[in-house]
Amino acid sequence: MNTVKLSPSLMCADFIDMRSALDVFQREGVDYLHIDIMDGHYVPNFTLGIDFCKAVARYTSIPLDIHLMIENVDEYIPSFASIGNALLSIHPETCYHPLRSLRLIKSSGARAGIAIDPSMPLETYKHMLPEVDFVCIMTVNPGYAGQELIPQTIEKIRELSAHIDERGYDIEIEVDGNVSWKNIPVMVDAGADVLVAGTSSLFDKSGVLSDNLSRMRGMLGQNKLSRVASVC
Ligand code: DX5
Ligand code: ZN
Repeated sequence: MNTVKLSPSLMCADFIDMRSALDVFQREGVDYLHIDIMDGHYVPNFTLGIDFCKAVARYTSIPLDIHLMIENVDEYIPSFASIGNALLSIHPETCYHPLRSLRLIKSSGARAGIAIDPSMPLETYKHMLPEVDFVCIMTVNPGYAGQELIPQTIEKIRELSAHIDERGYDIEIEVDGNVSWKNIPVMVDAGADVLVAGTSSLFDKSGVLSDNLSRMRGMLGQNKLSRVASVC
C-alpha cells in the first residue's frame, strides 16, 4: 500500500510567519508544498504569486505543487515551470486546448496535472488522463480556504481511482479542500494519494503546526484507516 503524501496548502499558513512553517516542513518532511495562484477572474480571490513561488523555491528543496486558478493559463505556464522541480495543475476550463497546455507544462520541465472543479463529471477529463502525472480532485469550490466539503466529490475520487487502476495509468490522485481530521479517512479510503492539507487539519488553529503534522502522520501511518460510513 503506497504511503499517502502530504502537500500543505501555504495559503492557509500564517503569512506573517511563513518561514516558521517552511522550517517545520523542511525539518519534519512533507512531499510537496501546495501554492494556490488566483487571479480574481477565474476565481473571485487573490492569494499568492510567482515571486512568492520563487522565494519559497530558493528557501527549500521541497517540490512546489502549484495550483493555477487563473485565466489564459498558457501564457504563464513557462514562467511557473521555470522555477524548477514543480508540479503545475491547471483547470482545463481556463485553456482553449488542454492537451496543448499539458504538453506545454511537460516541455517546460514540470509535472502536469489537471484540477477538476466539484461540479464537473470525471467523464469530461478522461481523454486528458494519458497526458497527466496527477489529478487534483477539488472537494470544495475553487477560490477560498475554510470551506465545507462537497460530499458528492468523494465518489469522484473513488471513480477516478478505479479508472486509473483499470487503465493502468501512473497518475497520483490529489485531493484539495476541507481535508479535515474527519474527512481524511474517507478521502484516503476513496483513493487519495496526496492530501492538500489546509485550515481544517494541518493549519488547524486549535493546535500547533508540528503537532498537527505529527497527528496527520499518525493517522496516515495506520495500516488501514478505519472505514468511515459517511462524510461530514
Ligand atoms: C482552494 C484551494 C485550496 C485551499 C484549501 O481554492 O485550492 O488549496 O487552500 O483550504 P482548506 O483546506 O481550508 O479547504
Ligand atoms: Zn489548491
